[in-house]
Amino acid sequence: MRQPLIIGNWKMNGSLTENEKLLNTISTSLITIEGIEIVVCPPSLYMAQVKQQLSKTKIKHGAQNVSEFQSGAYTGEISTSMLGELGCCFVLLGHSERRALYHENDAQIADKFSAAVKANIRPVLCVGETLSQRQCGETFSVIAKQIKTVIEQVGIEAFAQAVVAYEPVWAIGTGETATPEQAQAVHANIRHQLAEYDVNIANRIHIIYGGSVNASNAQALFMQQDIDGGLVGGASLNSDEFVKICQATNEIF
Ligand code: 13P
Repeated sequence: MRQPLIIGNWKMNGSLTENEKLLNTISTSLITIEGIEIVVCPPSLYMAQVKQQLSKTKIKHGAQNVSEFQSGAYTGEISTSMLGELGCCFVLLGHSERRALYHENDAQIADKFSAAVKANIRPVLCVGETLSQRQCGETFSVIAKQIKTVIEQVGIEAFAQAVVAYEPVWAIGTGETATPEQAQAVHANIRHQLAEYDVNIANRIHIIYGGSVNASNAQALFMQQDIDGGLVGGASLNSDEFVKICQATNEIF
């Protein structure tokens, strides 16, 4: 049984005041939730604030990106050891916004994945197809390639502590969600691909869905057999909505 996982990706949003308010509300409202793992990923600059404010709660915190390098002359970058010092236990890697806007490629993402695993930070490998790739029938092959490059570079064993997030690019921030059936088909395919390398890892790994998840569609999505929770963008900035998503998830399992 995979314990459901809900990760909030705040992207480049927030302020000291807004974060404090959001974290206060979600930590108070979710205090009695036992059955699911909840993580928030603020901009790294706020990690110390988030660590401090969540210190007496079960809500964990993660980062939205990390450098593939350990230290040195990499202006503007943040290392895994820095994230570790601030109690980060997850890091999003290969988000489609980073692939599209900052030209991250599969090989670089694999290096970041490797750095995260070495630092004992759980990598959340984000994969997904664009609308035109879906329309051309390339969804499975695009995602298979994104995952294969990482497996070949870091080894399947590294996936023992990883999470895969399926985020169709056309569903991110658009209000358009994959149907539960569409998402389930991709998640099952990802698990099948991983099983070709290691059945135990494939059975245990969390594969979560992201792309316009909200309180109304979360339950139907997360009830699917191979969908183990969600990566929530916009709705994670709205405390009511985020709390409802977590509560709805908790009801299913
Ligand atoms: P939205 O939930 O805003 O569509 O964003 C999804 C996402 O990119 C999470 O990483």
